[in-house]
Amino acid sequence: MEEIRPIIWEDGVLKLLDQRLLPEEERYLACSTPDELRDCIKDMVVRGAPAIGVSAAFGMVLAARNYLDRLPVNLEEDNAPQEGFWQAMEEAGTKLKASRPTAVNLSWGVDRMLRKLSEAKRAPTGTVLQLLEAEALGIYEEDIETNKQIGANGAALIAEGSTLLTHCNAGALATAGYGTALGVIRSAFQQGRVKNVLAGETRPLLQGSRLTCWELQKEGIPVQLIADGAAGFFISRGEVDGIITGADRVAANGDAANKIGTYPLALLAGEHNIPFYVAAPLSTVDLSAGTGWDIEIEERDGKEVLSLGGRRLAPEGASARNPAFDVTPAGLITAVITEKGVIFSPNEKKLIRMFEGGVQRG
Ligand code: MRU
Repeated sequence: MEEIRPIIWEDGVLKLLDQRLLPEEERYLACSTPDELRDCIKDMVVRGAPAIGVSAAFGMVLAARNYLDRLPVNLEEDNAPQEGFWQAMEEAGTKLKASRPTAVNLSWGVDRMLRKLSEAKRAPTGTVLQLLEAEALGIYEEDIETNKQIGANGAALIAEGSTLLTHCNAGALATAGYGTALGVIRSAFQQGRVKNVLAGETRPLLQGSRLTCWELQKEGIPVQLIADGAAGFFISRGEVDGIITGADRVAANGDAANKIGTYPLALLAGEHNIPFYVAAPLSTVDLSAGTGWDIEIEERDGKEVLSLGGRRLAPEGASARNPAFDVTPAGLITAVITEKGVIFSPNEKKLIRMFEGGVQRG
């Protein structure tokens, strides 16, 4: 099976599969500077919480290289980088973090790189660069492993022959590979538990139709696209056995921010007594956000709502609001599926316990 690789690090260049062009075209866009990466994150060349976190980690390597390339430094010599370097790295990190505000994985990736950097304060410049690159590659590999673990933990919750509904794209494309919500679907499908997937199209940018359908088709997993407004129709007729989505940030109390339109799906699940699962790595949990109200919600350009595929549909003069995410209250979430285990009826105590130890049920 052809592997989906949204992020490739090759010869010191970050290559991103341009997700704006999918499914028509599979083209990579190369980033050699952190500013180029920032534009790619803003414009959603790369998107999905873990994918932007992993990309930002490589962005910090690009920042270090770019800064040092401009100085007369001999990497072979035993000299540690000067004060200006540390400041430049902090600034690059701050800029990257600001490119999209809701997914906490972005800050998580940058902060992990800055921590690695602070451990290497007195190391020679060449060593600092090597350490940074190794850390970013480690984050990349870990993300794929984490998703496979989420997949295994989540698959156990899916009954044989299930039809699952998902929203947006929380797949290989939204991560370094394999995916979170789609990782669970992948694993469950391999075990013969998934009969069908209903993918909400996910207006305004259509991640469901363009990306989730493309990914599941490649994998040979049966998928049917539905209009976002059709979810209630299928759920009320008993045609959906469970809903599974990813998350951009999970607050300490278990409230979860995800793509706009997720919250109404959780309400429907509650009303019709089917499970609503959130699949997310622990790097998506932000214990410093007490509740969902502490999560900054990105509001994007109204043009995305006023048009479809670049063609304006609304009349000239019409205006639009375009929040990119909504928050599902913890009370509506059956379980958060993490790499360390499944947290049923999530709350602060259980999330902290998961960070500290892992494996818990109920
Ligand atoms: O605006 P996007 O496409 O970045 O939104 C992505 C989502 O909402 C995903 O569900 C979330 O980031 C989890 S990805 C594993």
